[in-house]
Amino acid sequence: MSSPINVAVIGCGYWGPNLVRNFKALTSCRLKSICDVNENRLRHLCTLYSDVEAHTDASKVINDPETDAIAIATPVEYHFSLAKAALSAGKHILMEKPLAASSAECEELIEIADEKGVVLMSGHTFLYSSPVKKICDIIRAGDIGDIRYINARRLNLGLFQKDINVVWDLAPHDISIILHILDELPLTVNCQGNAHVTSGVEDVTNLSLSFRNKRFATIQSSWLEPRKVREMTIVGTRRMVVYDDLQPLEKIRIYDVRVDRPPHYDTFAEFHYSYHYGDSYIPHIQQEEPLKVECQHFIDCIEQGVEPQTNGRAGLELVTILEAASASLKANGAPVNFARNREQTAIPKTAPSRGAMRVGPVAV
Ligand SMILES: NC(=O)c1ccc[n+]([C@@H]2O[C@H](COP(=O)([O-])OP(=O)(O)OC[C@H]3O[C@@H](n4cnc5c(N)ncnc54)[C@H](O)[C@@H]3O)[C@@H](O)[C@H]2O)c1
Repeated sequence: MSSPINVAVIGCGYWGPNLVRNFKALTSCRLKSICDVNENRLRHLCTLYSDVEAHTDASKVINDPETDAIAIATPVEYHFSLAKAALSAGKHILMEKPLAASSAECEELIEIADEKGVVLMSGHTFLYSSPVKKICDIIRAGDIGDIRYINARRLNLGLFQKDINVVWDLAPHDISIILHILDELPLTVNCQGNAHVTSGVEDVTNLSLSFRNKRFATIQSSWLEPRKVREMTIVGTRRMVVYDDLQPLEKIRIYDVRVDRPPHYDTFAEFHYSYHYGDSYIPHIQQEEPLKVECQHFIDCIEQGVEPQTNGRAGLELVTILEAASASLKANGAPVNFARNREQTAIPKTAPSRGAMRVGPVAV
């Protein structure tokens, strides 16, 4: 029997301890070490996991020959340097979203992972969640009809970040879900917002993504709201879905409602919209922690030598949309053309060879 995969977690602030807990609980790997520059964070986690090595210097973990895989949950500004060093040392990487601070950095990480033949996985956690999987199943089965638009709201008070604005912090979740549902990249990206609390760091934003066939998505992100909201509405030609992630059990509700225009009419008096009000239902959802599924998928991909569902390329696509959002914010919400032509908007199922395809903003 081969020895279990040794995992390390770098960054043990707010999110890192969730990775630590999940890797610790998996039987298919061994949590070997944790790392944080902040000794207090390490001390706290060591009281919970006394058998795990603790380091304040990430290079100790990265250069440890016994460590096979590293999950990184530091602020975004450190993602690239840590991942580059770790990939170059032949480690498999699970990187928290967003993969890096720019598309150029993402491309370099993908290149190094390819050269080294190691797994580079982007932590797009919601794609491993049961509600999102269920919504995709329902949509792929044709129950919703053609999707007309998607509206997402992710709002709460804080947590204010210093290095990234609210789009880079909160919108990655919604963008990853929307790209997965629509299975294509946007044609244009618009983003408007304001920095009310910290100059230069937008805390409220409205992001719009327009896709082929007049489909579009809007994403509202805010750190300045009294109530916490985690909601997505998917409007189809046959039915509509409301996904409320704050509901403990009934997270998805399918509404059998739609509106049709009469196909033809002769006089204004004959013209009537036809509103259909049917039943709504709540599909059963399996209860499992998305991060646990994500961590297990990372280990499975390493063991089986396969690409993760959310690979480096998925991380790159997301970061190019965030870059387009930043460009649009600077231009007061002007559209940024995202893809060069329609063929490029289809999300490739496998990573294309290096340089074969570029995604990203091309003109403001
Ligand atoms: N998937 C999700 O749902 C989810 C949720 C929250 C945050 N995140 C992501 O997790 C990452 C971390 O976010 P957070 O809210 O936990 O941030 P945080 O600031 O609370 O924690 C980051 C930790 O990293 C440590 N750190 C910084 N530089 C380091 C270095 N060079 N070596 C070792 N440790 C270092 C800091 O001391 C801190 O304890 C971000 O990328 C964020 O987007 C993901």
